Amino acid sequence: MTDPNKNINAEVIAVFPNKVKLSVDDLSKFISADEQLEKLKVGSYLEIADDDNHKLIAIIESYAIVVDEKKASGRSYVIDANPLGIIEGNNFTRGGDALTIPPTKVLPAKQSDIKAIFCSGLKDKERFCFSKLAQNIKIDTPVNGNRFFNKHFAIVGSTGSGKSHTVAKILQNAINAKNSGYDGLNNSHIVLFDIHGEYKSAFPNANHVDSTNINIPYWLFDSDELGDLFIESNEDNSHNQVSQFRFAVTGNKKKFNPNLPQDKIYFDSPLKFDIDEVIRYIKNINNELINKKNNRCPTTKANEIIANRIPKYFESDLEFEKTSADFVNGPYSGDFERFILRLETIRNNPRLKFLFDNRNEIELESILKQFLGYTDERKANVTVFDLSGIPFEVLSITVSLISRILFEYGYYYKRLLTGNAACETPLLLVYEEAHKYVPKSDLVKYRASKTAIERIAKEGRKYGITLGIVSQRPAEISETIFSQCNNFIAMRLTNPDDQNYVKRLLPDSLGNLTDTLPALKTGEALLIGDSIVMPSIVKVDECKEYCPSSNDINYVEIWKEKWKDVVFNKIVEEWKK
Ligand SMILES: Nc1ncnc2c1ncn2[C@@H]1O[C@H](COP(=O)(O)OP(=O)(O)O)[C@@H](O)[C@H]1O
Ligand SMILES: [Mg+2]
Repeated sequence: MTDPNKNINAEVIAVFPNKVKLSVDDLSKFISADEQLEKLKVGSYLEIADDDNHKLIAIIESYAIVVDEKKASGRSYVIDANPLGIIEGNNFTRGGDALTIPPTKVLPAKQSDIKAIFCSGLKDKERFCFSKLAQNIKIDTPVNGNRFFNKHFAIVGSTGSGKSHTVAKILQNAINAKNSGYDGLNNSHIVLFDIHGEYKSAFPNANHVDSTNINIPYWLFDSDELGDLFIESNEDNSHNQVSQFRFAVTGNKKKFNPNLPQDKIYFDSPLKFDIDEVIRYIKNINNELINKKNNRCPTTKANEIIANRIPKYFESDLEFEKTSADFVNGPYSGDFERFILRLETIRNNPRLKFLFDNRNEIELESILKQFLGYTDERKANVTVFDLSGIPFEVLSITVSLISRILFEYGYYYKRLLTGNAACETPLLLVYEEAHKYVPKSDLVKYRASKTAIERIAKEGRKYGITLGIVSQRPAEISETIFSQCNNFIAMRLTNPDDQNYVKRLLPDSLGNLTDTLPALKTGEALLIGDSIVMPSIVKVDECKEYCPSSNDINYVEIWKEKWKDVVFNKIVEEWKK
């Protein structure tokens, strides 16, 4: 028992399940047993011991001065702290219920104890570290790398809080970590969707894919994606458009793949077809006349009787004319005028060249190799899809197609492996500005990418595919995605909706720790999840050599420079490309 007459500088005055209150007389004497002293701050750690030598670690949540006439100084300090867990030797267990009441001794935690906590239960080979403790940057805050990458993770924070920098740091550490005994690349596989084109500088050796070199053929689009691209769902006859379009695409896939079992070829089969032939089919069916005398078969101006529309309608624009009263309109006559116009406009849009031109020369295998950094010219751990040049109207289906293809790759790869063999090339997909592809919104324009990414969120882990979701607007992201994330890196968040949303996702036991979100400095984050021993406010290590290119412009400096002339015609040329 403590001696009631002893002059106690600091004591625990209340214990609640998720809070410990202490009173401190003289803060200058409230110092850790460590030789390395740190100034106390909100977020600093305390050690609270009981007589049975259990040591509870708690994190300071708030601090207040109370007027206290009995003290010489006329005041004392009240500190609220959040219990995190118990430390015994080098072992740390979460939860504070092992402490017997009343606790008898409280001090700021020793640095060696804090270090021990972060390493507790962590084997060397599992250790993955990209940050330090914000309160004390001498202390590493490693995560269990297997747990971190095994489940989806999210990085959220307002613009400029340091998300891209964090992504770069995590990925750089992942591609640089190696077992000894070999040279060259390690076996990490990362695909990064870079909507602002900012990662080239962070990964100079990556496989860079952009709208000028991307192997993304229209024939790989699935029904949702093709529908998104070509069908206007609010038109009266959109169901006829869909059914005729599907019929033509399936028929054309059969035509181009005569050696495959024809009854196994479906609309969604990843097989080539020719979009120009499909458009021709739609045109012909829109123009066709049928002859009552010829068994109601379509009959051309030259009196050619067309017993089978496929493949005839793929081959040329046929001429139909009412040369006698026996000719009547076909079932879709004139129905598809607007549809044809739309098909042709999209097909001939110069900005969509990367989807349509010479796309039938590309093989599925070379597409996979490009998407995964296995091209003949270069192997790369990171593939950066620079989406900044992809027109907005096809962004969703482009992301959808890439994501879907990568999912299928994981799926079929797994099927090839015998028994319970583990995935040989675990894959991480990182989506920057994820609210742009997987928003809460049900709008048709997001449907394709949302479906594809939500599927990976739900099933990807089985096939060795993990998601990294990065967003400045967490409140706008699909809940399906967030609810599947196990580790969070929550950086400074200024928008109250986003703060509340993130708070809701985090465990209640964190208490006021989540209130620090708006006050975090650039590069600081609340690191939470099953990969870290306890929730912590960390400072993400700085990317020293290779940083993502920043969007910050030094306005005042540039504005002070001499007037610059602008070559307007070059800009206009670029615009028209
Ligand atoms: N961990 C960090 N350490 C040091 N500086 C950082 C860190 N994170 C971000 N910064 C700086 O803050 C700026 C904004 O970071 P960025 O990652 O682009 O933010 P966001 O992606 O959230 O908009 C960058 O210019 C970078 O230099
Ligand atoms: Mg960014």
